[in-house]
Amino acid sequence: YDYDLLVVGSANADLVIGVERRPAAGETVLGSDLAVHPGGKGANQAVAAARLGARTALLARIGDDAYGRLLLDSQRAAGVDTVGVLVGGAPTGIALITVDPSGDNSIVVSPGANGRLTPEDVRAAAGLFHASRVVSAQLEIPLETVVEVVRSLAPGSRFVLNPSPPRPLPAEVLAACDPLIVNEHEAKVILGGVAVGDAEVGGAAFGDRPEDWARVLLAKGPKSVVVTLGSQGALVASAEGVERVAAVKVEAVDTTGAGDSFTAALAWKLGAGSSLPEAAAYAARVGAVAVTRRGAQESFPTAAEVEAR
Ligand code: RIB
Ligand code: NA
Repeated sequence: YDYDLLVVGSANADLVIGVERRPAAGETVLGSDLAVHPGGKGANQAVAAARLGARTALLARIGDDAYGRLLLDSQRAAGVDTVGVLVGGAPTGIALITVDPSGDNSIVVSPGANGRLTPEDVRAAAGLFHASRVVSAQLEIPLETVVEVVRSLAPGSRFVLNPSPPRPLPAEVLAACDPLIVNEHEAKVILGGVAVGDAEVGGAAFGDRPEDWARVLLAKGPKSVVVTLGSQGALVASAEGVERVAAVKVEAVDTTGAGDSFTAALAWKLGAGSSLPEAAAYAARVGAVAVTRRGAQESFPTAAEVEAR
């Protein structure tokens, strides 16, 4: 394989404002100065993997504009192969992000060019698929494009999906995941126990214990499942059973992109032969470093920085 990881997904310019608290409907609040960071769940995964030492390629679509150039520069600086980054069709995707004093974020994404990454673009990149040991995706690109990704996987390569932002998935996509990586909200949406955008309801149908969600998710078809539980660590589930992975305790400054670095680190370690629990434990250490620093891509550690902690 030429690549340890091929990431298919979004690239966004993150427009970030720090706030004391989020405004309610109809309310205005004042925030910090604006910061512009390279982001997007796909672009973030690619940078995170490359920083750790993975040979990485990105298949994505950006606009022919200044934000697109910011994103390309960031990929290239991290050592990502950008041969699969397509330009044009719409402006670069934008994420409007507020970060509160606890480091938590709220994000609204305008997909822009990400929404124009088509199944056709995936078919045209067949060479990248054949050269990649692991392929990862998220859901800031059209679902039919993700379906085509699954159909394009080379025999023997592994598919990792973080269905974010979540929506119900076709059986064909679920069956390809090894693993499906979800947080609690994403798990509920995938299980259909909760309407998209509503994090409140849904427990009754499949129990309140994350172990139960992991088992029910696994029964929906993925070869393996990872449920991330924030400060509670994570659960890994496969035919071998369900196992807990301990959290790494840190002071969060900005959680933006930490989940993307978790997914990338996990995908890379799995491709390198680690077991699912080992890969998840390493990914938790990577994500823990990322939350202690501002921004998404700028916050991702090198392998040496992970070891040093
Ligand atoms: O996961 C974090 C990312 O979500 C941000 O970088 C933002 O672009 C949105 O896609
Ligand atoms: Na961060």
